[in-house]
Amino acid sequence: MTVGTILAKDSFQLTPSGEIQAGPLFLMEEMKPGYNKENGDWAYTLIMANGDIYGTSQGKGAENVTFCSDCHNAAEDQDYLFFLPEEYRK
Ligand code: HEC
Repeated sequence: MTVGTILAKDSFQLTPSGEIQAGPLFLMEEMKPGYNKENGDWAYTLIMANGDIYGTSQGKGAENVTFCSDCHNAAEDQDYLFFLPEEYRK
């Protein structure tokens, strides 16, 4: 991805009574080369459904989003992105 690319993934939660509620928003932003060589210069941000920022890389609550790169680094060979498994892509 080119510098400045932002990927956003929304989510929802299903309550035990069957209600659907908005869940957190997951963001990945491709930063300039050298931002963080260990994770391909991606910045991770997690925004809660009420708008609060739970954490953002190298910013407020950075320690809350280190788990993002811990997992996404497993996809280093495809620019740290997972996308849907191939059989579900159309
Ligand atoms: C345990 C592994 C794991 C963790 C931890 C994780 N992700 Fe992901 N992420 C995935 C997988 C697998 C996908 C692709 C499937 C999907 O979209 O659910 C994905 C998809 C994404 C996408 C869409 C682009 C893509 O790679 O497909 C974004 C954006 C994203 N994650 C951001 C985050 C952020 C921000 C965090 C931390 C708050 C985070 N992820 C934590 C595994 C993880």
